[in-house]
Amino acid sequence: MARHLICIDDLGDDDLRSIVARGAHFGEHGAGDARPLAGAVVGVHFRKTSTRTRTAFSSGTLRLGGHLVAYGPDDLQTNTGETIADTGRVFSRMLDVLVARTAGDPLELRELAVGDMSVVNAMSADEHPTQALADLSTLTWHFGGVSGLRVLYVGEGNNTAVALVLALSRYERVRLELRTPHGHGVPKEVMDRAADVAARNGGSVRQRHDMADLPPAMDVIYTTRWQTTGTVKVHEDWRDRFAPFQVDSSLWRHSPRAVFMHDLPAHRGEEVTAEVLDGPASIAFDQAAMKLASAMAVLEWCRVGCVSPLAGAVG
Ligand code: CP
Repeated sequence: MARHLICIDDLGDDDLRSIVARGAHFGEHGAGDARPLAGAVVGVHFRKTSTRTRTAFSSGTLRLGGHLVAYGPDDLQTNTGETIADTGRVFSRMLDVLVARTAGDPLELRELAVGDMSVVNAMSADEHPTQALADLSTLTWHFGGVSGLRVLYVGEGNNTAVALVLALSRYERVRLELRTPHGHGVPKEVMDRAADVAARNGGSVRQRHDMADLPPAMDVIYTTRWQTTGTVKVHEDWRDRFAPFQVDSSLWRHSPRAVFMHDLPAHRGEEVTAEVLDGPASIAFDQAAMKLASAMAVLEWCRVGCVSPLAGAVG
């Protein structure tokens, strides 16, 4: 059975924790002698722009001993009418792993997931699961773990936010507070599901659509850019709605020890001020670097399943 990562809920608790811990290990120590992709061929198909995710999975494949076939948005016969299902049938006879960014319907990725080929969602319209895994590896690297953390997410409830909500709620005693503009929040169905899981784990997941009464003493303040790749805003006045949700240094009055995280790319002066993004609390560029380590953990999991975080470690 091929292992797929199309949404966070594809991962059992052991898979999720294993990938997160392994990503943190790769981030700290690099790949070492690990070559779990030796002899494997990974296809990387991005129909939308990407700097971090595409490079992370490409570089990660090569570092783990695999071979790479890269496709841009104009390269496949799907553009001339071949079906996604037929494309998947052909790919699965030639590739071991397909990493794909559609920024569209995740069902497309399910259609591609046939045969023995693993499919990894490198971002679809509804979820960005590999971002969440990199984020949790970053938290593990910085704080030593994820359980018990208090996270304030400010801004659009986009695909990154959805994956973050679903992943964080799986850890014990995590408190996650989202502040999103009206009409741009994480969908209620996702919030309800995550809140149930968080409650079972002794934590909480809540969303409000204003910036009043912010919770104090948060460990992390997280935002993403306001114009998510591949999306357009339906409300003409969206900038007015988003303006109160800019992350600036005033948020640190309530949480002086918080680190700042951002999935990047960033637009300084929109969702975050330059003072915060480039300031001492920011770990956003460590977070970006962790995308490579996390991509290696995901690729390794696709090929061999759960691995002890320290497997192959020297010393
Ligand atoms: N955060 C993220 O997914 O970055 P890219 O769009 O550059 O891959």
